[in-house]
Amino acid sequence: MTQYSSILGTGSCLPERVVSNDELVKFLEKRGVESSAEWIESRTGIQQRHFAGPLESTAFLAAQAASKALESAGVIPNEVTLIVVATSTSDQIFPSTACAVQSILQAKNAAAFDVQAVCSGFVYAMTIADSMIRSGQFKNALVIGSEVFSRLMDWDDRGTCVLFGDGAGAVFMSASSEPGVLACELQADGDQSCILNTPGRIENGAIVGDPFLRMDGQAVFKQAVAVLGSSALQVIQKAGITADQVDFLVPHQANVRILQAVAKRLKLSEEKTIVTVNQHGNTSAASVPLALDYAVRQNRIKKGHTVLLQGVGGGFTWGSVLVRM
Ligand code: UT7
Repeated sequence: MTQYSSILGTGSCLPERVVSNDELVKFLEKRGVESSAEWIESRTGIQQRHFAGPLESTAFLAAQAASKALESAGVIPNEVTLIVVATSTSDQIFPSTACAVQSILQAKNAAAFDVQAVCSGFVYAMTIADSMIRSGQFKNALVIGSEVFSRLMDWDDRGTCVLFGDGAGAVFMSASSEPGVLACELQADGDQSCILNTPGRIENGAIVGDPFLRMDGQAVFKQAVAVLGSSALQVIQKAGITADQVDFLVPHQANVRILQAVAKRLKLSEEKTIVTVNQHGNTSAASVPLALDYAVRQNRIKKGHTVLLQGVGGGFTWGSVLVRM
């Protein structure tokens, strides 16, 4: 019998501290950096974001989101066989955030590793987990996107520091006789690493190179609209369905103008596009599972719906997962 994977539960976690555009602009003003709440909202759709406090680590947020996903699936930590965390802001160089989550949850029977594909991380992680479940090697997987991107911000760079936020989202996937995941599609172009990166590293106890997030916003914008559109059409074709059979689009939440452009290309109405960037900002690998959980808990995305999840970001990387809930 063909084996598939399907999503049995979702969860998310946001840091307690909410920072409005007004508050952020006042903070930037004190540093001599000029911006305005109006600029941020009109260019990006962002109204606020959450910033993690000292105790709200990437692993902590990930474990909270994972707990909620397990709870909604009716599963206990001992039953989890695999934990995959997508993150570019791991709390330590090693071990992985996934191992920290395994320890926090006491999910003693789970293998655990991280995936690094920046804002595409969650769709990369889901694709890997789907393959590992379909191969029969693993019965189920907790797939988590968790980020504390506020750590990477250069608060003197107004072109980036107003865009990002912190948070985590998770899904619990399990083997099933029916899909579940209908098709996946991943791509990368390492030649474009310079348009979005954090190039620094630690060497012999010192930071070598630039430790802040850098982005050519316009280049990323154009590339994101182009690749998300083509990736969507490819994954839809792979699954043997048509765009009008997609019930909801859950794209990476970077800029509301990018989401609108992709939805327009797919001829999907506004009601079919899940938007959380206004409340969360860009949370990188966490944005897709956070938006998915938000829509599930609002009772918009329900069992049986066909949902298109899409990631795009540093690498350059991009990809899509088409899933029946
Ligand atoms: O997660 C990975 C994916 N990331 C993305 O998808 C991000 C993609 N890029 C974008 O969303 C947009 O390019 C941005 C929101 C980053 C920028 O919007 P834009 O419409 O492309 O603006 P721009 O970079 O062309 O800048 C327009 C003006 C510039 O001033 P001048 O040169 O016209 O005088 C900027 O210096 O806006 C200025 N500007 C700001 N002004 C006030 C840039 N940042 C700010 C700011 N506040 N925070």
